[in-house]
Amino acid sequence: SKTYKIAVLAGDGIGPEVTKESVKILKVIGETFQYKFQFDYGSVGAEAIYQTGNPLPDETLALCKNSDAVLFGAIGDPAFDNNPDAKVRPEQGLLKLRKELGLFANIRPIKTYASLIKKSPLKKEIVDGTDIQIYRELISGIYFGEKFTDENGEYAYDLCKYSREEIIGITHLAFQDAQKRKKKLTLIDKANVLDTSRLWRKIVKEIAVEYPDVALDFMFVDNAAMQMILNPKQFDVILTENMFGDIISDEASVIGGSIGLLPSASIGEDNGLFEPIHGSYPQAKGKGIANPIASILSAAMLLDYLELDQAADKLRKSVEHAIESKFVTIDLNAEQHYTTSEVGDFIADYIKFSEKSYYN
Ligand code: IPM
Ligand code: MN
Repeated sequence: SKTYKIAVLAGDGIGPEVTKESVKILKVIGETFQYKFQFDYGSVGAEAIYQTGNPLPDETLALCKNSDAVLFGAIGDPAFDNNPDAKVRPEQGLLKLRKELGLFANIRPIKTYASLIKKSPLKKEIVDGTDIQIYRELISGIYFGEKFTDENGEYAYDLCKYSREEIIGITHLAFQDAQKRKKKLTLIDKANVLDTSRLWRKIVKEIAVEYPDVALDFMFVDNAAMQMILNPKQFDVILTENMFGDIISDEASVIGGSIGLLPSASIGEDNGLFEPIHGSYPQAKGKGIANPIASILSAAMLLDYLELDQAADKLRKSVEHAIESKFVTIDLNAEQHYTTSEVGDFIADYIKFSEKSYYN
């Protein structure tokens, strides 16, 4: 049978400790379901800058290009955030990796868990049952347009641009997902002001004709920011450009009560990268308090991508079991909590135990 090559880029801060749990669990999945995974490690982010001066060393990029999928931890380091003059930044490594691998669609599922609703800053009636898939365009727009700062540091710009080709691919993915869900797609834009948004609307309307069973609507991003808090249950699939997606997805991440639960997938023509939404959380590094679930659910999205559906399903059920059993880290339960690796072990053991008992 096929050996799946997985590049593991653990990165900075809590990245290594949460990624370690995902690898542990993927190994158990491999043993349980008889899949062959090969894990190869590469450096990225601040860690790579300290070692090589480059946030995305050539070997790391080559490793990712030769893999079936990339499991990513987190990047970011306060030493760079606090230094506006830094010439190289950890984030450049991730942006370059997304671009080089052609990862045009970033998918961020937002959902609630009944037992955690009380952790949400919003009222139960508002958030209970929220289930949103955000499709964020990832390799164009203002992030990747020309940038300029004049020599006096008194004038700067970042150009936002899009082409038809850059909109089509992600739009099809979003419509196809909506067909499997509640058949509603909301394009978030600023078409009352921006030309790029008017281009998105035009192209998305054209493509919508191919998906007559999906209801398409449009929402300006400022209103969407408000609607996300007022009534998140109105959304099913959200489609949006790069920077609006960055902002809206962080806003949506608080709905479920902890950003430590949220995974993401970044998909291209021939590779996929899977990473938690949370950042490197440097204050928690090495303390064993980081929630590994966002990374573990990212591993579940990796299994989806490899079309190992049974394993992905098992992994998600095992995570739900840990949450319902209150076998969680301190962000989810201050009274009684477990370490990062204890939570990983609990989920790994549940996969082993429940599969065995099922077959015996
Ligand atoms: C994200 C992050 C990145 C982004 C940063 C780290 C470059 O915020 O994945 O949402 O802005 O895309
Ligand atoms: Mn972000």
